[in-house]
Amino acid sequence: MIEVISSGGPMGVVVEGVNLSRPLADETRQELERLLCRNGVLCFRDQALSSKQVRDFSATFGTLEINVAGGFQEPEFPEVMILSNIVRDGRPIGLSDAGQSWHTDMSYSGTVAFANVLYAIEVPVRDGEPLGRTEFCDMHAAYAALPAAVRRKLANMTVVHDFDKFWEMMRRDKGSNRPPLTDAQRRAKPPVSHPIFPIHPVTRRRVLYANPGYSVRINEMDEVESAETLAFLFEHQTQERFQYRHRWQVGDVLMWDNLGTIHNAVADYGPAEHRHIKRCQIAADRFPELAP
Ligand code: OGA
Ligand code: MN
Repeated sequence: MIEVISSGGPMGVVVEGVNLSRPLADETRQELERLLCRNGVLCFRDQALSSKQVRDFSATFGTLEINVAGGFQEPEFPEVMILSNIVRDGRPIGLSDAGQSWHTDMSYSGTVAFANVLYAIEVPVRDGEPLGRTEFCDMHAAYAALPAAVRRKLANMTVVHDFDKFWEMMRRDKGSNRPPLTDAQRRAKPPVSHPIFPIHPVTRRRVLYANPGYSVRINEMDEVESAETLAFLFEHQTQERFQYRHRWQVGDVLMWDNLGTIHNAVADYGPAEHRHIKRCQIAADRFPELAP
């Protein structure tokens, strides 16, 4: 009954025949997880979900993150966050600039993210074209396409990921008026290290786990070589040939594998072009091999 339609690109499929508003049978959950990790991104079209249903669907795949910053959560369901540029009665209803540069969700956490689920309620459209696309790159393919000598050299190395890197980039390059992180916030999100080429727990294949948004240092190299190597990896992993661009429709539920992909939210719409999305982040806590 599950039908899968390829995007035609290097990854991303539309999944038909699943109603996400109802609890999933265990075998359906397993099938979706397998499809997710093989294809990087799953899109379920024409869903009609309450916040509780978005949460319950997401929670079948792992523990949901509750954002400590505390803003823009559904009051009854703090695991569900609102991403939006809509201002109602003078107040923003959601986080307006989430993910607007290449990154991996929660790579700065000890327990990283396994998957994210986004549900589109409003999508900006101009001249019939959806705006605010989300772009993905395939990190199974990026790993496999690395020169063998690079794979060998980096094989057992680890990368430092720092929440503050993305935060400061938003202030510096994107005109964000967010204040610098306070010392207390920095202490709450200290930099963490993860293997650069972990084995993906579902596909059992290696992935490149580094990203321009949060990766700051390769521990086993001196500062200069680390900076050069990271610059090479960032260039390598964002190549066109690894990319899928999601063109949103209202009612889409998009689910992506955070271990096997990196992504970027394209901010090509204006304040009067409304985008409204609900989001859950699923921790990779079901996979002991990824434990901090
Ligand atoms: C995020 C994110 C993508 C989007 O919320 O972490 O990357 O298109 N969002 O909103
Ligand atoms: Mn993201």
